[in-house]
Order: sequence, then C-alpha cells, then structure tokens
Amino acid sequence: MAEADTLTREAIWAVYTPRLLGREMEIYAEIDSTNTRAVALAQRGAPEGILVLADHQTQGRGRLGRQWFAPPGSSLLFSLLFRPPLMVSQAQRVAMVCAVAAVEAIAEVTGLTAQIKWPNDILLEGGKLGGMLTELGGHGAALDYAVVGMGLNVNLDLASLPPVMTPPASLSAALGRKVPRAVLLATFLRRAEALYEALKGGWSPHEAWREHLATLGQRVAVGTPEEVIEGLAEDVDADGALLVRTDEGSLRRILAGDVTLRGERL
Ligand code: BTN
Repeated sequence: MAEADTLTREAIWAVYTPRLLGREMEIYAEIDSTNTRAVALAQRGAPEGILVLADHQTQGRGRLGRQWFAPPGSSLLFSLLFRPPLMVSQAQRVAMVCAVAAVEAIAEVTGLTAQIKWPNDILLEGGKLGGMLTELGGHGAALDYAVVGMGLNVNLDLASLPPVMTPPASLSAALGRKVPRAVLLATFLRRAEALYEALKGGWSPHEAWREHLATLGQRVAVGTPEEVIEGLAEDVDADGALLVRTDEGSLRRILAGDVTLRGERL
C-alpha cells in the first residue's frame, strides 16, 4: 500500500501507460497551485495531455476565488491541459469528461458510488469529496486551451480540515481504510483519456454526465454574479448549463454558478 500510495511516474505507469493524458507529467512535492502551473504551461504552448501533480499545494485555488485546502499526502491534487477542437461556450464538456471519469474511477477502485453536484463538485454520501477548477484560454470564440484542476479527498482525516460551509467527505473515511492514490489516479487517467478521445471524435459526454448528477429534481438556489436564482433543477443541456424552473414558472438557463441544494445539508 505504501508503495502504491507514492505519487511517482513509475507507480502511475505501473497501472496504466498513457497515450495522451499524463504521457508528460510534472510531479511536485510542493507547489503553489497545480492549476497556476498548468495555465502557465498552456500559455507558453505546451502540448495537451500534460499532467501537473502535487503532493501539497501552498495556494490551492477553488472556484469563485476560494481556497482549496488539503494536508500533504492526503489527496489527489492535479491539473490536466486539454486543447480540444471546441468553442469556448462548449468548454464545460471537457470538465464533464473529467467528472464522469472521476466517478467511474472511484467506483472501480473503491466500489463507492460518488455523484456530481452541478457544475463540478464530486459528492460522496452528501459530503464534498472533491472539486474541479476549469480555466480557459481562447482566440475569440474558439477555445485555445482548457486546464482542468481536480482535488479529491482520498486519505483525508476529516478532522484535520478547517471549518467549511459544505461538509467534507473522504474515501478513507467512508471505507475505513486507505486508498492507493497512484492506482486511483492511473484509473482516472485511463478512463478520462478514453472519454476525451471520444469527445474529440464528436461524442457528447452530456448524457453520461447527466446520469451521475445529484442536482436534478432538487430545489436549488444558484448564486450567479448578478443574482440568486431559486427553483427546481429540471435538467442540464449539452453545454452543461443548468435549467431551473422558477416559482414564477419561467425556465432559466444558468451556465455557471454556485449551487445550494435546498432541503439538504449542502
Ligand atoms: C472547488 O471545488 O472550488 C474546486 C477545487 C479545485 C481544487 C483543485 S486542487 C488541484 C488544482 N489546483 C488548484 O489550485 N485547484 C485545483
């Protein structure tokens, strides 16, 4: 277990030899943020597929300007660089691929059923198991790159976290044993690579992503920069927008926001 939990090229490649995702990797014992590094690589023309992986981040970043906190060695903290042939408005499809691959990899390695909370959180038994931060670059409407950063609470002692609004979850807490991070990461990369190749071939991940969403059919309050929209989460569309039926009966299409599932402790 100790060996499989070491995040090295060899430990990852022992499980899976990548064609694209993770064929090139940078592995850090400590870095400010894997997303910051991956965006810098993207902006200087690095090829897609590069993986930036860290055992610890000193300035891990979450969505909406939040911090992402994880004690050293407790988590999977990584960012992947994609250059998909998509428009900026379709970029959420890349994040969908990663979210589906994460849920599938968790099921394969641990047997646990995780879900996706719109837009990009990974939930386990109602708690937040992981999150994704997607950062984009474009030329006009065309996407130049998408960096998808993922933080997954693998062997995290939940008591070690500072108080947070959303209750956290971790795989080790749910299972009562540690999970080998290299095996989980390699399994994620294998699944994400297959889905990403399908995406580049014209497949839409929308249905697969939709099947794993915890949000649909729930009353939600979605914070956007302009307002909070309340209503019933009816559906999502192919670009990942959430369709919310308000109490007044109108259907609102929301591309990004922060969701509170009403009536739950999220
Ligand atoms: C969120 O739920 O707010 C998104 C969290 C994303 C955290 C990951 S950890 C690896 C990568 N590097 C970062 O600085 N952030 C993402």
